[in-house]
Amino acid sequence: MSAPSDSQRMEKIVSLCKRRGFIFQSSEIYGGLNGCWDYGPLGVELKRNLKDYWWRVMVHERDDVVGMDGSILMNRAVWKASGHEDTFTDPMVDCRSCKARLRADQLVEKKGIKQCPNCGGKDLTAPRAFNLMFKTFIGATEDESSLTYLRPETAQAIFVQFKNVLEVSRKKLPFGIAQIGKAFRNEINPRNFTFRSREFEQMELEYFCRAEEGMRWLDYWKEERLKFYENIGIARDNLHALTVPDEERAFYSKGTYDIEYDFPFGRQELEGVAYRTDYDLSQHQKASGKSLEYFDEETKQKFIPHVVEPSAGVDRTVLALICEAYCEDEAPDEKGKMETRIVLRFHPRISPIKCAVFPLLKNKEPLVAKAKEIVALLRPHMYVFYDETGAIGRRYRRQDEIGTPFGVTVDFETLGEKDLALRDTVTLRDRDSMKQERVPVKDLPSILVSRIS
Ligand code: GAP
Repeated sequence: MSAPSDSQRMEKIVSLCKRRGFIFQSSEIYGGLNGCWDYGPLGVELKRNLKDYWWRVMVHERDDVVGMDGSILMNRAVWKASGHEDTFTDPMVDCRSCKARLRADQLVEKKGIKQCPNCGGKDLTAPRAFNLMFKTFIGATEDESSLTYLRPETAQAIFVQFKNVLEVSRKKLPFGIAQIGKAFRNEINPRNFTFRSREFEQMELEYFCRAEEGMRWLDYWKEERLKFYENIGIARDNLHALTVPDEERAFYSKGTYDIEYDFPFGRQELEGVAYRTDYDLSQHQKASGKSLEYFDEETKQKFIPHVVEPSAGVDRTVLALICEAYCEDEAPDEKGKMETRIVLRFHPRISPIKCAVFPLLKNKEPLVAKAKEIVALLRPHMYVFYDETGAIGRRYRRQDEIGTPFGVTVDFETLGEKDLALRDTVTLRDRDSMKQERVPVKDLPSILVSRIS
């Protein structure tokens, strides 16, 4: 079988996402809304498993991190102080021929002349700054006094609540505040499926430390984050930590890594790990007039902590997980003839459904009853799917295609009809190797829990 090209592979992934209910276009029946996506029954599980695992390793398994959940709407003063109102912009040009608005860095250049990538037109306006924040109004009037923005990053809520969280958590430096939530950017060219969206989710940690330790924590968090991606099933070879060059870093950052992934459409950023110095807290202290200093009990000194920020995109990581998992191999059909099998090889930790349970035949009541008993046995521990329709091989294929790592089949041996020694045992099938083992029903919860956690 010849390997599909990268663009064919991406087309197949987008089509699978819709066909099996991972990701749909937002407002599809009205023609869609560019840059916005809805997650279907399987997509929402995958996303939730990713966020839960991030929260587990970044918050629950650490003594030095606590969480918070800030509001999406904040006082406009926040966005003035952070610099977003003045500088969170992309340089844009308009094509006078086809009227397209384009990012200045995405124009094509032929023989030194910039051209519109849509129509090839050369009649372009000079670049102008276009703010990426969505405006909205609070209350009944729609004027300057009621203007604010949908947050373009979750981080600012953490900075402005720094003092409150510090006081209630009684943490000492270094410590972090973590948050997962929606962010909005009026991206001019949303593209590559969900990669660049207008509404998306971020998983951000602001890790506060002393100035002299900033560079060390930057490297520490880069390594931790690479490990995280490996632990959710992304091969290290497909991940890259790019040192962002001085001229491309934010002016206040002393060091930034971009963690990139080899998507079918090219190597692109999954996460930024940035040493933001004391810029954000200093800006908010200056603008609000409220102290955001840390008091060091030992040295009796007061100072503004520095911060290292690993900031990951939920939607981009979900897309990377699907791209990484997508695989076509060959497997025998019911009659032993080889056929193409589509399989999502998700790490069991993040796969939407952990185990599917099948009675061998749907019209044999004792098989159905036993299968339903097993579903009830497993449900407190994991998300389980029951399926009794179609030939067993077809049922396996349907689960392979959505990445379910384990399949349990209840057969006549389970009922003890053929061999009493096999009574109350089932076959446990592994998605990737397609191998089957015979295990006692009572051991299923512990076997499966140890393989999915
Ligand atoms: N607080 C820092 C911050 O927001 P960023 O590099 O602009 O930094 C962090 O964003 C991450 O958020 C990115 O690495 C990416 O994963 C995700 N992200 C940013 N813009 C996005 C968009 N338009 N669509 C999807 N994800 C996006």
